[in-house]
Amino acid sequence: MSFMYSAVVVYFAFCSKFSVAISCDFDGTNTVADFNDTKFLGTWHELERTTFQWGENTWHSQVWVFKRGADGHLYMAYTGYSAQSKSCSSPQTGLLTHSGSGASYTLMSEGRYEAALRVAYTDYSNVALVYMCYAPEVLGTCDRNRVHVSLLSRSPSMSKAQRTILMSHIDLECVENGHLHQATSGLCQEPIPSIPLGK
Ligand SMILES: *[C@@H]1O[C@H](CO)[C@@H](O)[C@H](O)[C@H]1NC(C)=O
Repeated sequence: MSFMYSAVVVYFAFCSKFSVAISCDFDGTNTVADFNDTKFLGTWHELERTTFQWGENTWHSQVWVFKRGADGHLYMAYTGYSAQSKSCSSPQTGLLTHSGSGASYTLMSEGRYEAALRVAYTDYSNVALVYMCYAPEVLGTCDRNRVHVSLLSRSPSMSKAQRTILMSHIDLECVENGHLHQATSGLCQEPIPSIPLGK
């Protein structure tokens, strides 16, 4: 176990230079009861989000498009504006597979990474609250630096009342109101999903 011990020490020595690791009970959060993924299909604009994972480089104007493939699977295409490159990323498409119960998924993005995605709340036609974890841990926890919380809307704007509803549903205890930051919206076009054709 001495190897593991030193690995842990090195990890914390490295990470503590930036911030203390805070563990979030990711899998312990609520998801939408009787989630109907068909009603969730279509376009979502990310209007506010946390910036734990990428800090200043967190994308603006994210647009997500959910679509069902001919294979019956659920796909998510996404793009966003990088302030560094001053452009929108080329659309990327991820495969969503159910993991656990409720609106809980694993997002496999073009073989690049696997993230956990949970729809915490939605009314389907206007707004949604989504949690992502870019490094899900075996125990269902997630280091806060790997957490991403999204306030989404069908249109590139959201009313105060809608925002209040979404904020009231945030049940990730490691996330506070002040962690949500407004994104500039309307810079990127809807991504076109590149999903495998049915056989
Ligand atoms: C899900 O929503 C679709 C579209 O509104 C509807 O046709 C379908 O019956 C719903 N499925 C369930 C299980 O309620």
